[in-house]
Amino acid sequence: MVIKLKKTRQEEYEEILAQIPELEYHPTTPFIQTNQLIKNFEINDHIIHAVDNITLSIKQHEYIAIVGESGAGKTTFLHLLGGLDLPSSGKVILSYVDLSYFDQETLATFRIFNVGIVFQNYNLISSLTAIENILFPMQLCEFSSDENLTRAHDLLAKVGLSNRADHLPFQLSAGEQQRIAIARALALDPPIILADEPTANLDKTNAEFIGRLFETLRKQGKTIIVATHDEKLIKHAHRILEMAEGKFLKDEVIREVTFQKTDKELNEAI
Ligand SMILES: Nc1ncnc2c1ncn2[C@@H]1O[C@H](COP(=O)(O)OP(=O)(O)OP(=O)(O)O)[C@@H](O)[C@H]1O
Ligand SMILES: [Mg+2]
Repeated sequence: MVIKLKKTRQEEYEEILAQIPELEYHPTTPFIQTNQLIKNFEINDHIIHAVDNITLSIKQHEYIAIVGESGAGKTTFLHLLGGLDLPSSGKVILSYVDLSYFDQETLATFRIFNVGIVFQNYNLISSLTAIENILFPMQLCEFSSDENLTRAHDLLAKVGLSNRADHLPFQLSAGEQQRIAIARALALDPPIILADEPTANLDKTNAEFIGRLFETLRKQGKTIIVATHDEKLIKHAHRILEMAEGKFLKDEVIREVTFQKTDKELNEAI
């Protein structure tokens, strides 16, 4: 007899997906959209309008650079998009699904399969080695350990760090830590990458490496949204959004999104 003590995240996710058509999924729903999105922070009597009524659509396979001065609201906006924070009001649609349907736990499951998040300060788990950090999100799923390990080593190779598998974060340079953090963000092969100033603390060589990596991911079909001031990341963008005081002042399309691979080719590429 097989006793199942606990559902895996994979099973939970499949249940969530099975329920989505009964919710609001519709073929004309945008891949990513924010609708009158507002995030206010209240400190004493003072209200900060960090995200101030943003309505925006993002196409699948689009690479977007968000630029803007410090305090413009870039991080807050990315956190709302990725479901890391809840809006004061308004809607976020991610992978065609309205995030407001989810309670916190379901949202966390939905998020890990859909969004890889890269932070400015890497956020690696300091007690885990490089390979263990990459394995960490995979262990929430039903993949066998051998499969996990093979995929983690492949990701390590992809970020050029096969020879650093057993290093702890403090034994890695800043650029290496960020590359491990990117490999971790790709662990469950999410269709969307959100990155918050991922090259801000890195030297030119590492920043260029990450620029090339994002370009490869874009070609493989990922949708990439990156807050950055780094020309090495901005130069690959289809579209540049300029943010100030919680709003997008400028929305500049640099080139059209042309992505033609089939889902099958896409899966094989990654
Ligand atoms: N948790 C919070 N509580 C109160 N105010 C906050 C909080 N988080 C952000 N803010 C405020 O919201 C505004 C937008 O902050 P945010 O971090 O999104 O800006 P940013 O564009 O990412 O800036 P930077 O380029 O410096 O990272 C700022 O004025 C900030 O002080
Ligand atoms: Mg920020």
